[in-house]
Order: sequence, then C-alpha cells, then structure tokens
Amino acid sequence: MSDDVVLAGIDLVKDFSGRTGLIKRSTGNVRAVDHVTLELKRGRTLGLVGESGSGKSTVGRLLLRLIDVSDGAVLLNDQDVTQSKHRSLRKLRSAMQMVFQDPYSSLNPTMRVGDIIGEPISYHRGLRGTARDNEVERLLVSVGLAVEQARRFPDELSGGQRQRVAIARALGSEPDILVCDEAVSALDISIQSQILNLLLHLQSEFGLTMLFVSHDLSVVRHVSHDIAVMYLGQIVEYGPADRVADQPAHPYTAALLSAVPQAKPSSRRTSEKVILEGDPPSPSAPPKGCPFVSRCPFAFEPCHEFRPAHTPVNGGGTVACHLQTSGPTLGGASLGGAAFDSEKSATKH
Ligand SMILES: Nc1ncnc2c1ncn2[C@@H]1O[C@H](COP(=O)(O)OP(=O)(O)OP(=O)(O)O)[C@@H](O)[C@H]1O
Ligand SMILES: [Mg+2]
Repeated sequence: MSDDVVLAGIDLVKDFSGRTGLIKRSTGNVRAVDHVTLELKRGRTLGLVGESGSGKSTVGRLLLRLIDVSDGAVLLNDQDVTQSKHRSLRKLRSAMQMVFQDPYSSLNPTMRVGDIIGEPISYHRGLRGTARDNEVERLLVSVGLAVEQARRFPDELSGGQRQRVAIARALGSEPDILVCDEAVSALDISIQSQILNLLLHLQSEFGLTMLFVSHDLSVVRHVSHDIAVMYLGQIVEYGPADRVADQPAHPYTAALLSAVPQAKPSSRRTSEKVILEGDPPSPSAPPKGCPFVSRCPFAFEPCHEFRPAHTPVNGGGTVACHLQTSGPTLGGASLGGAAFDSEKSATKH
C-alpha cells in the first residue's frame, strides 16, 4: 500500500441479521456492505455518494470501528485494526472523528457549548482548567464562532452554528481523519456552502484526511478529490472527482448526475441523461449479476448473470460495468464517449 494511504477498508463486508420488530420476525439477512475496498489518502477527501440505503453510513461506521466487520479488514497507517479492542480502540477513536447529519441530536442539549467542545479535549488529550479553556477558544475561532458562544446551550444556536460546534468537538481530539456523514444535508443551501467552505479551510489548516458521505453528488464533488459511487452495498465507480463527475463511466453515476441541476445546459452531459426510475432492490434480495441491472437502461445478457469486475477508465479510476468489458465495449471510455454506438443511445432519455 502506498505511503500516503492513512486509512483503508479492504474487501469490507457487513451483514445485518434481518430480525426486526417485537416478535423478531426474520426478514432475511441484509448485506449492507458487499466487498467494498477504498483508501483515504493523507490530506485528501474521498467522497462517498449513493442513494439512501446504499450502505454509505455503514462503510463509515466500519472504518471507524464503531461496528465490527463481517469480513474484510480495516488498516490504519498500514496496521490492521480490524480486531482492536479497548485501549488500542480508544487510541484509534482519537485518531478518527465523525460529524453527523443532525447537530440537534448529536449535541447534548443540557451541556454548554464550551463543555461539549471541552469534553474530548480532556478525554483524549488530558487537558484541564485553563489549558482546556484556551483550546476550546482556539477551536471556536477556527470554526468561525465567537468565544462568548462557549456559554450558550445548543438550542440557543442556529442549525449552522450547531454544526460548527459539532465540527469543533470532532477536532478536539486532534484527529487525523474526519468522517462527515451527511454533515450538511439538514442545512439550508446558503448555510451548506458556508459549512462546506469551512471544511475545505479546516482540511488545509489541519491537514485533515476526510471521508465525506452524501447522497448529493454536486455537494460531494465540491469538496472531494476522489469519489466512490455506491449502489446496493457495492462500489460501482471510483476515481478522481472531476473525471467521475464530468465523464461518468457507470450508468448509475450518470443517473445521479442527471438529477443534479446543470450549470451549463449545453454541456455534453445533457445529451447523456440516464433517468433513474423505481427503487433499488432490497439488500436482502440483491440481483444475481450487476446490482444495477433492474434499473439500467443499457442492461444486456451478462448483466443478469455475472457481477462485473472493476476495470480501468480513461482519465483515472475504475468502474464495475459490463459495458466496459463485453457487448458494446466502451474500453475505458466514459458513457458520453464516441465508442458508444448510436443504437444504444436511443434507449437514453
Ligand atoms: N443496525 C442495522 N440493522 C439492520 N440493518 C441495518 C442496520 N444499519 C443499516 N442497515 C441496513 O443496511 C443498509 C445500508 O444502510 P446505511 O445506513 O449504511 O445506508 P446509507 O447509504 O447511509 O443511507 P442514508 O443515505 O439513508 O443514510 C440499509 O438497507 C439499512 O436498512
Ligand atoms: Mg447514512
């Protein structure tokens, strides 16, 4: 593994038992994460995008060791931490922090902001008294809040301010890695961009490595160096953010982009729209072949039978799609590339 990889998930699998409800009726096992491999590189942001239920949060929780893997491994600085317990897990947790979607429920409403931010500073770094207070003040300023706000309670703050508090709290343990799970999804658009810009600024100030999880590809693109696209527990496309967003090689990525308002209506993307219809299949009964087969306008025979392997894409990254390897071969070209035959284009919207 290359030196600049801080955290890696290797062939991660997570199965949840399908027993739900009071009578524990079995609904079948759910494979929430299905052989996912990804790398977080030092000082860079990996964006993880996909529809609701695709397994994004589960990947984040596996990487942070908040839940145990069913199979596969988590490597932190090349060290296998998959089975770490107690003391080493505590060390691990201080190296990785998470910011969640809902700052209303993730902040203790009975604590003052200063104590919310101060708690991890004491717990992970052993600072107390004035040393702790000085650190709280420094972090408040770093996230764009006034020092006086340390005395406030969370319900005296706006949604954007609360999310700044959540970010300051996450930074309190001086983490190397920050996982932001739908961290701006609950915020108004204008506040969203303020928080995204704050994250970009903090990344360069603190040299943070980030995993940025969102269902919104336009948001992910704004902050990410690389993007992984998830569908039904699997990564279907992976690569440099600009290549994935400008020249998607997987029909699902193209569909996610079609849902994003176009800044330039004349761009090539508009003629390559893939409209998503219906819902994804249940993860307790996934299709036999490609996970996207039931919704893909380009599906042909192999897609129903065989799970596609990842193959390289021109411009960087990989895609798991039979279009690249058999049938109307794209040979590493993006979906919008000339290699695509005109007959197939007729099925596009
Ligand atoms: N603790 C659990 N027990 C059983 N099933 C679970 C559990 N956590 C997640 N799942 C299932 O795993 C799948 C992936 O869930 P996950 O929360 O990772 O998706 P997500 O991509 O983060 O979705 P969202 O965008 O809605 O947050 C879903 O089918 C979900 O119902
Ligand atoms: Mg989630």
